[in-house]
Amino acid sequence: MDSTLYFKQLLSGKDFAVGNQIATQMVNFVYMIGDAESRKCLLVDPTYGIDDLLNIAQIDDLQITGVLLTHYHADHAGGNLFGSQIEGSKELLEKLSIPIHCNKDEVPWLLKTSGLNSDDLESHESGDTVSVGNVEIKLIGTPGHTPGSQCFLVNSQLIAGDTLFLDGCGRTDLPGSDPELMYDSLINKLNKLNNDIMVYPGHFYSKDPFDNLGNVKSYNPVLKPRTPQEWLAIFS
Ligand SMILES: [Fe+2]
Repeated sequence: MDSTLYFKQLLSGKDFAVGNQIATQMVNFVYMIGDAESRKCLLVDPTYGIDDLLNIAQIDDLQITGVLLTHYHADHAGGNLFGSQIEGSKELLEKLSIPIHCNKDEVPWLLKTSGLNSDDLESHESGDTVSVGNVEIKLIGTPGHTPGSQCFLVNSQLIAGDTLFLDGCGRTDLPGSDPELMYDSLINKLNKLNNDIMVYPGHFYSKDPFDNLGNVKSYNPVLKPRTPQEWLAIFS
């Protein structure tokens, strides 16, 4: 891992929001991406225990300068989940004045469900970069699970949200989902990245919390089909 990069994977219900039943059941990962020299840091999909996440940043001597959102779902952005209100970026903004980076196609969905306002959001095109200190993060638009789902590539780490899990992919039967776009995102975008890239998913649904893309390609069935028809016949 690059020496200037600070990178941390945190599991909900274990590393933060301990004792929170929904956080424990949902097994979401929150990520911290920062610059180890300037001590600036971005949070990816902060939810469930905002104070806990702020404490972790403080213990690690990090200043949180922004949020990256993979997509609008409440277990990633905050909002109503199964009738319960989940803390998210809105609650974080009550403590810090920082930009919330999202894909432009996710904006209307976030405005409907997360409690965030348009002034809170910094919307991006696929291919944009966001910097934290001297660390640069590339945003890769991967629609399919939601219209504006995105992944983050920093050095050789891919934060894949609910687009790619180690043993599967995000659901494509939810509001805003599109199985054909999911095929394109998985096969024509993520599957073409280098095998040595480490995949960090949005949930702990597998035996391991992360794995390299070469291995993921060898065992993940959603990366095997080679035509949209073949993929849609199995997964849509
Ligand atoms: Fe999701």
